[in-house]
Amino acid sequence: MKLATKLQTALNDQLGLELVSAYAYLGMAAYFQQSPFTGFAQWMQLQSHEELAHAQKFFNYIGERNGKVKLQALPEPQSDYKSPLQVFQTSLAHEQKVSAAICGIYELALAEKDFATLSFLKWFLDEQVEEEKTVGEMVAKLEMVGDNRNGLFHLDKLAAKRGDRIA
Ligand SMILES: [Fe+2]
Ligand SMILES: [Fe+2]
Repeated sequence: MKLATKLQTALNDQLGLELVSAYAYLGMAAYFQQSPFTGFAQWMQLQSHEELAHAQKFFNYIGERNGKVKLQALPEPQSDYKSPLQVFQTSLAHEQKVSAAICGIYELALAEKDFATLSFLKWFLDEQVEEEKTVGEMVAKLEMVGDNRNGLFHLDKLAAKRGDRIA
């Protein structure tokens, strides 16, 4: 089962996008690190680690298929934001972009009749549903509390719990 060149390029692009994600979340963590929101900082650190693990999965898969990994330069991530809401809105938009990218590779694998890659991508399709849901819920909660300090304090504590659950 030779990996089609087009598919190898798409998988390498996705490996890059996962690293861009890890870096973007590290930028968000850096923003929160300078703020009183230690829970949000923890959330973003964890998110960054998860994205690195995703990148690793693509790296390994390309290797397993005897493909060639091609690493790309990473752009400088944003680390200045106006508010926690703006950070999470940016995160949601980013996850939606990643979901669309995964679907694009899925379509390509389908056209190439590369069933092994379709099977590999299944985990990422499910993961993206979960990510968009989790981030979307936090956006909705942040919109609900607005500038209310008590509300923000509570949501920051809730964000810290996400780390407890996964760690
Ligand atoms: Fe990811
Ligand atoms: Fe993600």
